[in-house]
Amino acid sequence: MKFESQVVHAGDRKRVTSDAVPATTPISLGTTFYYETAERLDRIFGQEESGPSYSRYSSPTNDALEELTSVLEQGHGSLACASGMAALQIAFQAALLDRKRTVLASHAIYGATVKMLDQVFAPSGVEVRYLDICDTAAVAAAIEKYKPGVVFLESVSNPLLRVGEIDRIAGLSRDAGACLIVDSTFATPMLMKPLTLGANIVVHSATKYLAGHGDVLGGVVIADQEHFETVRMLSRIVGPVLGPFESYLTMRGIKTLAVRFERQCANACKLASWLSSHPAVERVYYPADPQHPDAETIRRLFARNLFGGIVSFELKGLDRAKVMQFMNRLKMIVPGTSLGDVHSLMLYPVIASHRDVSPKMRERMGISDALLRISCGIESADDIIFDLDQAIGLSSEL
Ligand SMILES: Cc1ncc(COP(=O)(O)O)c(C=O)c1O
Repeated sequence: MKFESQVVHAGDRKRVTSDAVPATTPISLGTTFYYETAERLDRIFGQEESGPSYSRYSSPTNDALEELTSVLEQGHGSLACASGMAALQIAFQAALLDRKRTVLASHAIYGATVKMLDQVFAPSGVEVRYLDICDTAAVAAAIEKYKPGVVFLESVSNPLLRVGEIDRIAGLSRDAGACLIVDSTFATPMLMKPLTLGANIVVHSATKYLAGHGDVLGGVVIADQEHFETVRMLSRIVGPVLGPFESYLTMRGIKTLAVRFERQCANACKLASWLSSHPAVERVYYPADPQHPDAETIRRLFARNLFGGIVSFELKGLDRAKVMQFMNRLKMIVPGTSLGDVHSLMLYPVIASHRDVSPKMRERMGISDALLRISCGIESADDIIFDLDQAIGLSSEL
């Protein structure tokens, strides 16, 4: 080979000849895969034989992450996507492909999901109806009335941490031929596994707890057998797949999910009880609270004695300007968007996650100008409380 060819080919495409296996899945960046014979490649392109051919269809690092997330959620198959929103988009599209184009959605959901339903799906002919998903009788009546193709909810809602009766809603959806899609980003598979409760498709923003370190944007769609083939078929055509480096980081993050999440839940529990007795705090939202409106459902559906790493709360009598001054005073907790990271994050929903939701819809969701959401990190709970205490103390002097 000439030098010009050597620089292109030497060292690449080494076949693994020994039986050595890397203990941790490596990052596999190649987009194109070839085989001994064109006939074999033909069978792989034709999906008569499994194997990678082109990374829009599948690639070794993504395959490993997909197998991992499928196991965690007990799904038939999983697709690693470029973001949580890309994962949601493909989940809805797959479910609506051969069903009535009506979505019955919880009104307690992430702002961008409302925007996607209203500004992407609705203009293309999908009818979107919102309702209180925690009122199971109302859900039953709406399913009967609208005969939706899809029912959608967040297993633990953003940001007020409401929990619907997924198992009963799954039964109602199944009887009506609708697909139940659950965004389980806040719950993680440690609080509940919606597919085992009868849901058809589960979506995560892997950006949050799964990857867990604030350095990956990603999503996963995990589906039952009926829906997974459609999810994969759409992905092969449209290509919203995660890059291999992000797949590697997400897998690396998931290895510590159990220990991170347990600490985050313990910190959140301590923080919620501290906030509940603080005179400057109007109201605390946390699933461990026996007064939580969905306490009975939480007791029934949450898998362990864990209640999540997020606490939302309202500060007494603070308007937007004062809430922002309070946020400016935080010294350790990061005031920003996102959640689920190892560091604690404070989000102000009206300027971030629910900024583009209309004030009327925000009111319906119960999101006021005084509401804040904290995602507990893995720091010492004492330091999280100390930081909040000094910021609240200074704010009350405003
Ligand atoms: C509940 C929920 N679902 C989906 C998303 C979207 O995820 P991503 O930002 O990875 O697209 C978010 C983002 O905050 C979220 O909170």
